[in-house]
Amino acid sequence: MKNADRTLAILTLLASLLPPLITLSYAQLQDEARALLNIKQAVGLKSPNLASWSTSSNGGPCVGKWAGVTCDSSQRIIQLNMSGLSGFKLEGVLPNDAFSNLTSLRSLDFSYNRLKSPFPSLDNLKNLHDLNFSQNHFNGNLPQTIFNLPNLVELRLNENNLTGRIPEGISNLKGLELIWLGGSNKFESPLPKGLALLPNVEILTLAGSAFEENLPKEWAVWVNLTYLNLHTNKFTGDLPSEWGSKFTKLQKLSLYENHLTGKIPDSWKGMISMKEFRLRDNYLSGPVPSWLAQLANVNASVDLKCNYLRGPYPQWFSDANTWMGNCFDSASRSHDDKCRDDNTCEDGPPKSDGKKNSTAAIIGVVVAVAVFCVILVILYILWSRAYVPRSRRLRRDTGAEDWVVPQGVRRFTYKEILKATKSFDKSCEIGEGGFGKVYFGKLEDGKHVAVKRAGDFSHQGMKEFQNEITLLSRLHHRHLVRLEGFCDDKDEQILVYEYMVNGNLHRHLFEKEAVLLNWYRRLEIALTVAQGLDYLHSFAEPPIIHRDVKPSNILLDDNMAAKVSDFGISKANLDMDTHISTRPAGTAGYVDPEYFLRRHLTTASDVYGYGVVLLELITGQLSIDHKRLEDYNLVAWFKPRKIKQGIQAVIDPRLGSNFPVEAYDEVAEIAMDCTAFERGDRPTMKFVASKLEQILSGLIPPPEHFQPVSSTTSEGKASSMQVSPATSRTGATGEVLLTYIKLDPTFNATAFEPR
Ligand SMILES: Nc1ncnc2c1ncn2[C@@H]1O[C@H](COP(=O)(O)OP(=O)(O)OP(=O)(O)O)[C@@H](O)[C@H]1O
Ligand SMILES: *[C@@H]1O[C@H](CO)[C@@H](O)[C@H](O)[C@H]1NC(C)=O
Ligand SMILES: *[C@@H]1O[C@H](CO)[C@@H](O)[C@H](O)[C@H]1NC(C)=O
Ligand SMILES: *[C@@H]1O[C@H](CO)[C@@H](O)[C@H](O)[C@H]1NC(C)=O
Ligand SMILES: *[C@@H]1O[C@H](CO)[C@@H](O)[C@H](O)[C@H]1NC(C)=O
Ligand SMILES: *[C@@H]1O[C@H](CO)[C@@H](O)[C@H](O)[C@H]1NC(C)=O
Ligand SMILES: *[C@@H]1O[C@H](CO)[C@@H](O)[C@H](O)[C@H]1NC(C)=O
Ligand SMILES: [Mg+2]
Repeated sequence: MKNADRTLAILTLLASLLPPLITLSYAQLQDEARALLNIKQAVGLKSPNLASWSTSSNGGPCVGKWAGVTCDSSQRIIQLNMSGLSGFKLEGVLPNDAFSNLTSLRSLDFSYNRLKSPFPSLDNLKNLHDLNFSQNHFNGNLPQTIFNLPNLVELRLNENNLTGRIPEGISNLKGLELIWLGGSNKFESPLPKGLALLPNVEILTLAGSAFEENLPKEWAVWVNLTYLNLHTNKFTGDLPSEWGSKFTKLQKLSLYENHLTGKIPDSWKGMISMKEFRLRDNYLSGPVPSWLAQLANVNASVDLKCNYLRGPYPQWFSDANTWMGNCFDSASRSHDDKCRDDNTCEDGPPKSDGKKNSTAAIIGVVVAVAVFCVILVILYILWSRAYVPRSRRLRRDTGAEDWVVPQGVRRFTYKEILKATKSFDKSCEIGEGGFGKVYFGKLEDGKHVAVKRAGDFSHQGMKEFQNEITLLSRLHHRHLVRLEGFCDDKDEQILVYEYMVNGNLHRHLFEKEAVLLNWYRRLEIALTVAQGLDYLHSFAEPPIIHRDVKPSNILLDDNMAAKVSDFGISKANLDMDTHISTRPAGTAGYVDPEYFLRRHLTTASDVYGYGVVLLELITGQLSIDHKRLEDYNLVAWFKPRKIKQGIQAVIDPRLGSNFPVEAYDEVAEIAMDCTAFERGDRPTMKFVASKLEQILSGLIPPPEHFQPVSSTTSEGKASSMQVSPATSRTGATGEVLLTYIKLDPTFNATAFEPR
């Protein structure tokens, strides 16, 4: 074999030197080489990874080391893997004939790039087995050319910008097993009937599109189905009872955020392989089926929140008792809804009490309330004219009129906010901080948001509030929690953010769920936060200082990817040099000691706060803990201990023994540098980010990142389409597993296979 290779190499070399020796296969080789160089020319010139694609350096794609190219024994290219390319993405348009001479291709992977439409022709690729152009920028309809591939088994075009209907042509692809089309694509109804003609489907993902139709009962032919993901669409009607007895291999079913109605069919107890059963945010009714209890034995993850199901929820539902449990369920819906729907006193404070009344009584109450409201409003107007302190009046006067709402944020009416949060119902409350209370909200279009309502103490001038909105609207980064909009009606100051399903890091580190934070995840969070802060620090001059870096301001999305929150909030009135504020700039345990001494806040103060967060990630300990008798303060506890006794004496015991000790040692050094007493000794966030990136790039994620793709993969919604670098490094598999980790409570958080 080796000899044969060498012989071929020599032959090829000779061939290139001696034109008379040209053979047919050599010509083909030349065609294939030329095809690759064309591709490089069109989309890969900037990519250092393709530097190896060159005729001068070596004999040809199958002889030298052309990155991403695999050949078979007869020197034909069978695989082209251009996925990811560590940051230097392929960009632009592939020529239509890019692949027309690569007729032996069996596997084509261009995922995680920035390729744009039009899609190249694949018509000559009669041997193509798997096609992956996920995470690119293709738009328009699904390209017709993919339906001319008789041997296609795996198709991935998820996370593009594709639209329109899925053509019936898909039924040509008889061997198709994996169909990934979800994510940021927006396909529309009707679904092709032809899908039901594909007997081998194992995976189908169409999440996040715009399908408005019933779930096809015809799909019950897919006896090998393991994963069906249709969440966040507008599917209506009942759950097909036909599926139950056929989907015996189904392990993951995601139908959440649709408009499904009716009962959970009894026949679905036939889905005996189920590990994840996600139906939340639909209109399902009837009892919680008792057979679900059998899923408890396999530690399955079940999510039925926000339906109209009748409890009691079985004890073992991990999420049965969380705050969202009854946010939108029937119990809270019947709760004085009448008053809310034709609410005459939206302007007033939301009422949270209210007993069931007879119709007559209700009318009486409504009239009385209306009269009361009118009186209240009149009183309020009189009061605000006469008694509102000057500062507050001024605010209102200098307000809205001449201010232009910045692009990219939505101005919500108070009414919309009330609707989204059920009039700030207690059941929707998810937290409270210095700014005020935070509520879960569901917008008209179904989108989930976090609604932050300024409390009395955090109320600032309307002008300042608007300046803040203007600033926030300009900050866009994949590691910053996105501002969706705001509401400044009725003298309210409300900020509406993207909803981060997994809440804050504090909760995961210090409350029961630390199991989700394996050693790799913690480092990824550290990197992500560093990148988010670096963005803030380098976005503008003078730099934006976060001022309150701490675990409760680090939020986690459905993939457990972290984003920084509360940047730029209520900081305008926090100039500590001149003011006394009711809101501290920072939180005990995270505050830069130099700030205490000199009252001078700089980016280095954020670096200090960040360093404390790193220490918490490493040790799993609170920044201030009065039970830690050696020293309440984590920084003071950590440094001498680490220096004298080494990393093992400070590491979070929950990380177990299987983690890369040297990496954690390095991170501990970074943390100590960040928490240096003198700010001049602290590194910049940029330095920290690049250092962490370097450390992470040398690490292999633990085995739970490598579950078999066929049963554990998942696609995010539009929000998770931006993949963090740390995630994209591990490829789709990595990302997938992040979801898996969250969902499966059984995995071993500490297992780690050294290289
Ligand atoms: N966008 C969001 N998505 C999901 N949960 C959120 C979001 N924003 C805030 N929360 C939750 O609400 C809690 C309260 O947030 P808030 O920022 O008001 O207070 P805090 O972070 O605890 O303290 P501070 O006021 O010092 O920032 C957070 O800890 C978090 O759990
Ligand atoms: C494919 O090969 C043919 C002839 O062998 C050549 O004329 C053509 O330019 C090649 N096309 C590409 C895109 O390389
Ligand atoms: C997706 O397509 C829409 C409409 O065609 C366009 O407005 C939007 O900018 C596209 N997004 C990306 C990321 O290409
Ligand atoms: C299902 O999978 C089994 C085993 O992989 C295979 O033998 C069978 O042909 C498949 N059935 C269908 C209908 O695809
Ligand atoms: C389910 O989890 C429990 C404890 O969390 C464990 O003891 C049990 O072995 C798990 N069962 C399965 C089937 O994984
Ligand atoms: C291509 O390479 C990436 C990264 O190395 C890998 O994750 C992916 O599975 C490969 N694709 C195929 C089709 O083998
Ligand atoms: C692209 O899809 C193929 C086929 O499903 C798969 O083997 C490969 O791992 C995917 N690439 C990445 C980076 O996930
Ligand atoms: Mg906060």
